[in-house]
Amino acid sequence: MLVTEEVWHAHLDWQTTTGGLSLPNHNPQGYVMYGIDISVHPNFRGQGIARLLYEKRLQYCRDRKVQYGTVCRLPGFIHSKLDDPLQYALAVVGNIVTDPTLTPLIKLGGVFQGIIPEYMDDQESGNAGAILEWQV
Ligand SMILES: CC(C)(COP(=O)(O)OP(=O)(O)OC[C@H]1O[C@@H](n2cnc3c(N)ncnc32)[C@H](O)[C@@H]1OP(=O)(O)O)[C@@H](O)C(=O)NCCC(=O)NCCS
Repeated sequence: MLVTEEVWHAHLDWQTTTGGLSLPNHNPQGYVMYGIDISVHPNFRGQGIARLLYEKRLQYCRDRKVQYGTVCRLPGFIHSKLDDPLQYALAVVGNIVTDPTLTPLIKLGGVFQGIIPEYMDDQESGNAGAILEWQV
């Protein structure tokens, strides 16, 4: 969905930003593509499918002259011995820990910008999301 730069930089929770599953807050006048979800069937992971989908997404953004950002789950947080999602995300960014979602998105070019502590009801991620921006 597209959002304005103001909405992107406010870094609010998932529900407030999107408006809900049908994405009523999509704003065709926005200049930031807010990546909502991407999922590869477990049987086909690790074969470069997400990389191809990301190349298409980023090409679309270049063509439309919009920026690209997303907020990423941290599903490995619950299994880590760390108390704080920010500490966990920094360990993933520093390549000390591997996360099944944040690690691939960083490999796909996402640059870590920080954490939204109460992003969504998501026990695995400590309810947090990692803010990622791409150099389009
Ligand atoms: C994240 C996801 C989309 C990756 O899809 P994929 O098709 O397996 O990814 P790719 O094969 O294109 O891999 C992209 C890069 O991430 C790396 N990678 C993929 N899965 C990884 C994992 N579990 N741990 C570490 N690195 C991983 C790959 O090695 C590759 O890096 P490289 O090209 O430098 O070697 C997939 O695991 C998935 O659907 N997860 C569940 C949903 C989700 O978390 N979506 C993302 C947030 S919306």
